[in-house]
Amino acid sequence: MNTSTSDIKKETDRLYEKLNKLGWAREDCESIAPTTLEINQLKVEQNAVILAHSYQTPDIMYGIGDYIGDSYSLSRTATEHPAQKIIFCSVYFMGETAKLLNPDKEVLVPRVAGCSLADSINAEQVRQLRQQYPNAGIVCYVNSYAEVKAESDSCCTSSNVVEVVEAMPQPEIIFIPDKLMGLNLQNMTSKKIITWDGTCVVHEGFNPDTVQDIRNRFPGVKILAHPECAPGVVALVDYAGGTAGMLNYVRESPAKTFMLVTECGLTDRFKAEFKDKKIVGTCILCPYMKEIQLEDVLKALKDPVPEQFITIDEDVAERARTSLSKMFELEKIGKDILNKQAQTL
Ligand code: 13P
Ligand code: SF4
Repeated sequence: MNTSTSDIKKETDRLYEKLNKLGWAREDCESIAPTTLEINQLKVEQNAVILAHSYQTPDIMYGIGDYIGDSYSLSRTATEHPAQKIIFCSVYFMGETAKLLNPDKEVLVPRVAGCSLADSINAEQVRQLRQQYPNAGIVCYVNSYAEVKAESDSCCTSSNVVEVVEAMPQPEIIFIPDKLMGLNLQNMTSKKIITWDGTCVVHEGFNPDTVQDIRNRFPGVKILAHPECAPGVVALVDYAGGTAGMLNYVRESPAKTFMLVTECGLTDRFKAEFKDKKIVGTCILCPYMKEIQLEDVLKALKDPVPEQFITIDEDVAERARTSLSKMFELEKIGKDILNKQAQTL
């Protein structure tokens, strides 16, 4: 690629404008400018769109990402966007979900990155659970592989989990793979929840003492946690919900100080996007999300290897899509049930 010194300077200026709020020095921006420039040019030439999950590093989110968001919103963006090639900067299961919703598009991941939750269960283990609890329904959190979604009755996300579980016809629900989300769910629905032993290495790392300490040190602070955290943490916060819900909460709240009990990428995003709000406390890095580097994205565009293309066995894909469609159906039914319950209180 032919790039002039003035192109690099312009790209450095663009990056610095976005990244200096996050502590990046001009020299840091200058060092990545040739790569982001090349990625952004190739992306236009190939009519590709780059989706960046909120847990990605700032160089990916702000240097090359066309859209930044949570797994669910990015998969929807992939569906609505006219580009035929999607580069999904995130862990593998999220790329798979985008492929399930966009079977005719080419979906690539920069790296085959795992996830402690998704890796905790496979299709055979779900089949064994079904045999062990024949009367229970199976709901899987979207943080799971396609083969697990395919064996489940319905999928759910962190934002519709209560509605989906409430709308399932069975009184007993096997909730996979997140044990902590399952325990939180037990406090929020009328169903009996059978959990699996998966956890998110990020969200299981927070403890109630840290949260209480921040509450004591910053009067008026609003504390937000992902429902993948332990119930003891969730009980202490002002809001528990997924990435998109947290973003809305902070956007709409008149408060000035927030603690985000979640992954550090989201904290970076809030610092970059809400200049008048202060984020306090600690965050934890997801080692899987952070595997993805600019060079991997460049490879996916320039010289992709077979592992970077998401492919799903057609039979598995069809059954996994059924589980995703069921989620949309149950979400609506669950909302009505919860509204009726609220009216009778
Ligand atoms: P979202 O579904 O909100 O994108 O969260 C993904 C995730 O990995 C949570 O730990
Ligand atoms: Fe998986 Fe947790 Fe990382 Fe999300 S943050 S990808 S759930 S390990």
